[in-house]
Amino acid sequence: MKFFLDTADVKAIQKWAETGLVDGVTTNPTHLSKEGGDPKKKIKEIISILPKGDISVEVTEQKPEAVYKQARAIAKISKNISVKIPCHSDYYPVIGKLAKEGISVNVTLVFTVIQAAMMARLGVHYVSPFIGRLEDIDVDGMQLLPEMREIFDLYGFKTEILAASLRSVPHVHDAMLAGADVLTLPISLFEKMVQNPLTDRGIEMFNADWKKLGVKQFP
Ligand code: E4P
Repeated sequence: MKFFLDTADVKAIQKWAETGLVDGVTTNPTHLSKEGGDPKKKIKEIISILPKGDISVEVTEQKPEAVYKQARAIAKISKNISVKIPCHSDYYPVIGKLAKEGISVNVTLVFTVIQAAMMARLGVHYVSPFIGRLEDIDVDGMQLLPEMREIFDLYGFKTEILAASLRSVPHVHDAMLAGADVLTLPISLFEKMVQNPLTDRGIEMFNADWKKLGVKQFP
């Protein structure tokens, strides 16, 4: 199981990378636009924080031929980049071609199990089902994950399931239980996940009790 951060916020990535739990980052045009500045510079900064991490960078071109060229250019920025391409049928030939060329492709905006299975057939590295956005339209997004896991295992697909658009700690729990290979987490969710008030309270209680003992040095 791997954890990615779903952001382009360099300071936050730096902070949470120190936990040793961050295996990569998923950016998208929205994240990069929010941060401002030169997106290529931002990507390079992220790579310097996580030189062994997997960093997803999305194409911004529209026409398939332009998407193909841009995907190859993005992949050239660094060996540890995965190129995000939307799961649209116009791009299927490009996705298959890039996967065959050995480029790590992360197919994004996946909303059905069948889309995921088709992308696995094309041999992509990751499929990113967007759980939260399905729930935004009252569809049970989480049910996609165990079904994808079952189908991928049944057919021996090596494509990794990257649970995206996760919005809550129960989402994280359910995605883990469903066997998602990767969970990408917004910073606010990662912060919630690593904190527990009972752990904090327990530390305070142990500290207070220990002080009562009056021991100067231990052991
Ligand atoms: C993942 O790759 C996406 O960038 C992300 O999870 C989208 O999440 P959202 O639906 O909260 O924008």
